[in-house]
Amino acid sequence: MQTNFIRNFSIIAHIDHGKSTLADRLLELTGTVEKRKMRAQMLDRMELEREKGITIKLKPVALNYQYKNQKYLLNLIDTPGHTDFNYEVERSLEVCEGAILLVDASQGVQAQTLANFYLAKNLGLKIIPVINKIDLPNADLAKTTVELKKLMDCSDEEILKISAKTGAGVEELLCKIVEQIPAPIFVGTGQRPVPTVIFDSFYDDFFGVVAIVRIWHGEIKKGDQLKIIFGEFETEIKAEEIGVFKPEMQVKNSLQAGEVGYIKTGLKDISRCGAGSIIFNLQDSVGTGHCPIPTRNIPQSLIFSQFYPKNKDDNKKLREALDKLKLNDASLNFEPVHSEVLGFGFNCGFLGVLHMEIIKERLSREFDLDLILTQPIVEYHIFLRNGSQKVARSAQSMPAKSEISRIEEPMAEARIFTPAKFLGPVMELFGKKRGIYKNIEYLTQEQVVLTFEVPLAELISGTLDSLKSVSAGYASLKYQRAGYKESDLVKLEILVHKQVVPAFSRIVPRVSADSTARVLVKKIKSIFPRQMFSLAIQAQADGRIIAREDLSAMSKDVTAKLYGGDRTRKDKLLKKQKKGKKRLSAMGKVDIPSRVFFEVVKM
Ligand code: GTP
Repeated sequence: MQTNFIRNFSIIAHIDHGKSTLADRLLELTGTVEKRKMRAQMLDRMELEREKGITIKLKPVALNYQYKNQKYLLNLIDTPGHTDFNYEVERSLEVCEGAILLVDASQGVQAQTLANFYLAKNLGLKIIPVINKIDLPNADLAKTTVELKKLMDCSDEEILKISAKTGAGVEELLCKIVEQIPAPIFVGTGQRPVPTVIFDSFYDDFFGVVAIVRIWHGEIKKGDQLKIIFGEFETEIKAEEIGVFKPEMQVKNSLQAGEVGYIKTGLKDISRCGAGSIIFNLQDSVGTGHCPIPTRNIPQSLIFSQFYPKNKDDNKKLREALDKLKLNDASLNFEPVHSEVLGFGFNCGFLGVLHMEIIKERLSREFDLDLILTQPIVEYHIFLRNGSQKVARSAQSMPAKSEISRIEEPMAEARIFTPAKFLGPVMELFGKKRGIYKNIEYLTQEQVVLTFEVPLAELISGTLDSLKSVSAGYASLKYQRAGYKESDLVKLEILVHKQVVPAFSRIVPRVSADSTARVLVKKIKSIFPRQMFSLAIQAQADGRIIAREDLSAMSKDVTAKLYGGDRTRKDKLLKKQKKGKKRLSAMGKVDIPSRVFFEVVKM
């Protein structure tokens, strides 16, 4: 296909505003998938995506479309809406010339609408504003139009109104894609055109690494010798198979400039290829000089959780699985850790709690791994009295209080989009979350954007759920890192039978240490099996006990076998039992059952 007749675009939106449903209509209208084979959210192919009803991975699909007697190739990349997967959106947009910005008519502009709009705008893409779900009885077209016009600085006429569900307006949108989105643009400078970029990849047990590519310059044919440059690695491979997504993989003989498709590389070494790699075609006369595209920064992890296999022999299997997932998700980071109780595992870094949950689920479903996860935490900066500095990504790695001069925790700038009527409850919620109010901006009379500076640790512990519940589901949140700030934090330690259990430790704000401690010891008491002697479950902060629960001893009726007899005999047996328990308690080292470990570390 000649470059003039190719259009590369993404659909971007806030979560649930209808991207995947619109993609369904585009698949249908262009005849890419036969109507009888269609099913809802066709591009959400992962079992997990279909179950949760959310898009997790970017998905390219090639659509053929006839417009004014001319055949066009429309390469659509469907993207996730949740902020934890923004990295997928960024990678998708980088290989497109245009984007459809979709806004739900009943919800209006939301946090991710804004974030994704600026991503696309900063990359210089042509953005087509579209209001979706106009069929809904509570669609507020007037209000959504005002918000979108303000955001994009566009006119009423430029905004398309559609229903991805019924298909109304979608044909018109297809025409706009052809008319308004530029044909693939040549990127590169002078003698050094950008060849092919890998923007996603996955591992196939049989074919090895399958690279998902955008060809910027030249052509790649089946059998061509290619050089993949990934970081410092340069690897020569043969293009074993190439093709496009329709949405299944469909073999082609060649991929040309402007096209999006896949290359089966045959590579089994995962470290040699990944998102951000450049491919040079060794048949191409252009040569394999330095590539002008700067290697993009992989986003830094925001939260950390330790993953341990329940079956200790599965450590190698876990490492291999994480390697393979990293190929498919470059924003996943991990390093080995060891815990006395839980064995060998990995401290994994994620872009958010949903990201963490999805990786855990994928490890379990795709690799059959049963895992224990520790409660996610942020990365603390610890300044020591001896003048040195260290980072703590787990409570265990926090030094003793006597060694610490101060602790800094990561902050976030949170922007909350909410209908004005929920202003009070939202302000109250962020007050409780140690938030510092910064600004309020009225998008319209009814819709406001509040800005708070808030510790990242607070945002990852259920804030989104609380925000939804205080705003009847209407408020949305977007946040970004905002440096580090000194905080009054303490290490909360749990003692079982006077012994500290390091795996149960956590870092908490001093102001909430007492209440967290009480909740924790109560919970541990409720799940701990009773022993032959009574057991103290305590919590301490800075070496001071701040909460305690006692688990009474298991009582065995040692007098059951007595038939009559006098009282002294019974008393003697009871006294003996008491003495025995005291002795056991004094000697007693309490083994913590794995079930209790699993429960507590994830609390
Ligand atoms: P994420 O990928 O998770 O961000 O979601 P999405 O933006 O892909 O949204 P999706 O297509 O999954 O749609 C979310 C919900 O909105 C689904 O229940 C759809 O059926 C519904 N929906 C999408 N478009 C329309 C529409 O035009 N009208 C109505 N009434 N419902 C719609």
